[in-house]
Amino acid sequence: MQRPTVLLAMGEGFQDHADALTSAGFALTASLSNGDGRPDLAVIDCDLPGSMSAELYAALHGEEPVPTLLVFGEDIPEFAANGSGGRDEYAVKPIPPHALVYRLQALLIRGGQHLPGVGGGWTEAVTAEGTTIGEAHVISVFAPKGGVGKTTVAVNLAVALREHTRSNVLLLDADVGVGNVTSVLAAPYRMGLADVADSPPEEWTDAAFEHATTKHPASGLRVLTWGTDPGESELVTVDLLLAAIRWARTHHSYVVVDNHPSYDDRTMAMLSVANEIFLVVTPEVGPLRNSAQFLELAREVGLGDTVRVIVNRANHGVRIPDIEQALKLRVSATIVSNGPKAVIAANEGSPIISRFPKERITTDLHNVARLVTEGPATTTASAPRRTWWSTLVSRTSNA
Ligand SMILES: Nc1ncnc2c1ncn2[C@@H]1O[C@H](COP(=O)(O)OP(=O)(O)OP(=O)(O)O)[C@@H](O)[C@H]1O
Ligand SMILES: [Mg+2]
Repeated sequence: MQRPTVLLAMGEGFQDHADALTSAGFALTASLSNGDGRPDLAVIDCDLPGSMSAELYAALHGEEPVPTLLVFGEDIPEFAANGSGGRDEYAVKPIPPHALVYRLQALLIRGGQHLPGVGGGWTEAVTAEGTTIGEAHVISVFAPKGGVGKTTVAVNLAVALREHTRSNVLLLDADVGVGNVTSVLAAPYRMGLADVADSPPEEWTDAAFEHATTKHPASGLRVLTWGTDPGESELVTVDLLLAAIRWARTHHSYVVVDNHPSYDDRTMAMLSVANEIFLVVTPEVGPLRNSAQFLELAREVGLGDTVRVIVNRANHGVRIPDIEQALKLRVSATIVSNGPKAVIAANEGSPIISRFPKERITTDLHNVARLVTEGPATTTASAPRRTWWSTLVSRTSNA
């Protein structure tokens, strides 16, 4: 089995990056040539001496462009500004070694390619006939603080997406060691990712993930969880979660990921592969401060433009304009507080939106799903949508 190859063209101090990539299962190459020697991915530092960065970029973007992560400091240079039809991505310097690994893993997944498995081989994947690799829209629900409503948002968002679109929707419980979506949402539990982990990576096939997936009978939502035994948490590795995401993208239209409230490797990987990160905040000073710190981190690793702020229990505490000012970001959706209904629904294993269809909290939760299907309602029609990197550039130059 072959390791995915990366051409790593970075300036000074790249040894740590090279080591991190190698231990994550990538193989480094210096070859630009076509054929077998052509790299699967490339990382180009936009500030290499002379015209070296531009020349490398041109060499990698012939007939079959190599998906490239462009790392820049102050400004994206002219040669890299078009991003090769969306297959290239951008990161602001300095990019920490672990962030580089996640970004390249995400680039592989978005490109529909296989991930390096443990021991460096490509993970085998069996693709069902008629499916397009890398189709699903992935929404990662996150908060750096516990108890703010991530699971409530993730469960109801997933069920609402299923109701709105009637398409295949997967809820992935990646809150490893803690998460329990199959009890909040009464879905029969058979097995989880911890059971898939019993087999070697070559056997992490579509069939294995399919087998570990259950269904919420009332909505038809598909649910894949990490497992139930906290003692097995260590088995659910970043590689396994990424392999699950790759499978999930292939077989669903939407994938909603419920995450652990921390910056551990698994969570960072689940944020990196997301098309959108739904950052759940409550209108309290503590959680807001944590969220502002998270946004700084997300901007640093190039994920800032994928974040949407969802204010839960929005009718109490810090006002929305003050939240927007603290986070330097528009609020995309608000959800009212409704403790009694939330508790009843959770205890019965029903999604709030199904159990209490006429409540205001349900309208709000449906609107969260509409952010995904219809785009953010807060966007003014006249403002052209900017690419995520132009946002970064203006932020960098205003700093
Ligand atoms: N809008 C709301 N109104 C009232 N209660 C809510 C609301 N949102 C969530 N809750 C309740 O708050 C509690 C915590 O919510 P939830 O489990 O979704 O948070 P979480 O961020 O996933 O927590 P954890 O970090 O522990 O995983 C639950 O009892 C839930 O029913
Ligand atoms: Mg939770």
